[in-house]
Amino acid sequence: MINVSILGGSGYAGGELLRILLGHPNVHLKQITSRQFSGQQVSLLHPNLRKQTNLLFVHPSALAVCDLLFVALPNGESMKIMKSLVKKADKIIDLGADFRLHHQEVFEKWYNLQHRSPELLKKFVYGIAELHRSGIEKAKYVACAGCEATVSILALYPLIKHELIKNGVIIDAKMSSSQAGLKPSLSSHHPERAGSVRSYMPTGHRHTAEIEQELKINNERLEVAISATALDMVRGLLVTIHTIPNSKISEKDIWKAYRSEYSQEPFIRLVKEKQGLYRYPEPKILQGTNYCDIGFEMDKTTNRLVIIAAIDNLVKGTAGQAVQAMNVMYGFPETTALEFPGLHPI
Ligand SMILES: NC(=O)c1ccc[n+]([C@@H]2O[C@H](COP(=O)([O-])OP(=O)(O)OC[C@H]3O[C@@H](n4cnc5c(N)ncnc54)[C@H](OP(=O)(O)O)[C@@H]3O)[C@@H](O)[C@H]2O)c1
Repeated sequence: MINVSILGGSGYAGGELLRILLGHPNVHLKQITSRQFSGQQVSLLHPNLRKQTNLLFVHPSALAVCDLLFVALPNGESMKIMKSLVKKADKIIDLGADFRLHHQEVFEKWYNLQHRSPELLKKFVYGIAELHRSGIEKAKYVACAGCEATVSILALYPLIKHELIKNGVIIDAKMSSSQAGLKPSLSSHHPERAGSVRSYMPTGHRHTAEIEQELKINNERLEVAISATALDMVRGLLVTIHTIPNSKISEKDIWKAYRSEYSQEPFIRLVKEKQGLYRYPEPKILQGTNYCDIGFEMDKTTNRLVIIAAIDNLVKGTAGQAVQAMNVMYGFPETTALEFPGLHPI
């Protein structure tokens, strides 16, 4: 049994961590923090957890020593305090962006912020277990991937590793409102957000940097372009990726690449049905699950490959990925507490 605390527990990622960890047989939840709600029941912010726990939020200043600390603060916050956090916990899993990129200058370029703990960047292992399992096993510190980066990297990695595609990758991402976190803004205000299909970042998405970092295989830089559109959904993330492979490739080549990397992966499902309603990945049926569903189609007339992939941004895209990494770090069965199959209909 390990003692685990969550810093930033009133937010959406913190709430999902709590939901998943309450069902984990090897975890004792020690503390969960909130500045605004310290002293109050966690179910005030996470009403789905009524009768699941009597934990109260504590103020971050009361954070005690624990075995593992999950950090679920807004981007740009954990780097300010990481030097003190490493004294509080033997192992740390950060869900934010501050320690995902290995190079200070890349972080500073994409986030337009000065890095406050650059000396710690090299100590963090990128949190996607499917790519970095052996690194995570030995790691003290893990930086979980961004949600958009997670689904794009998982969809592309086998095809790049097997040299089926090399460049010119265009990612069309459809995003949900929970990706913006709990803090309201004009863009999340109901009259502005409801019913919208808003192209909010046609170029310049920050996750480009993570995707390029993780898919730089054999020292070859992958050129990636992301266009992000906000849809009227609370959870979920779908990417439709377009690319023209360098040479003629067959569906068989694509299947082979995916199967060789993912046939043993418990949370990756290849979805390409000939009939039925759910022939391709769809985020709706992934709500609450740690799955990443991946499908594809070849347009033979234009030699265009279209890859479709979906996740729940709050689970495989952050809290579930973090618990999967924890399971790997401590040698627990990797699927522990992550076996929820989702709901249908929903
Ligand atoms: N939402 C997603 O879909 C998603 C997906 C992938 C990754 N992530 C990452 O997960 C992290 C958390 O995201 P989120 O969506 O859960 O954000 P959120 O809903 O805004 O929650 C942020 C939490 O941090 C606390 N907090 C804020 N500033 C703090 C500070 N200076 N010191 C201590 N506590 C502070 C807030 O509570 P109090 O104000 O009460 O203290 C709140 O509990 C982000 O870094 C994000 O990049 C999120």
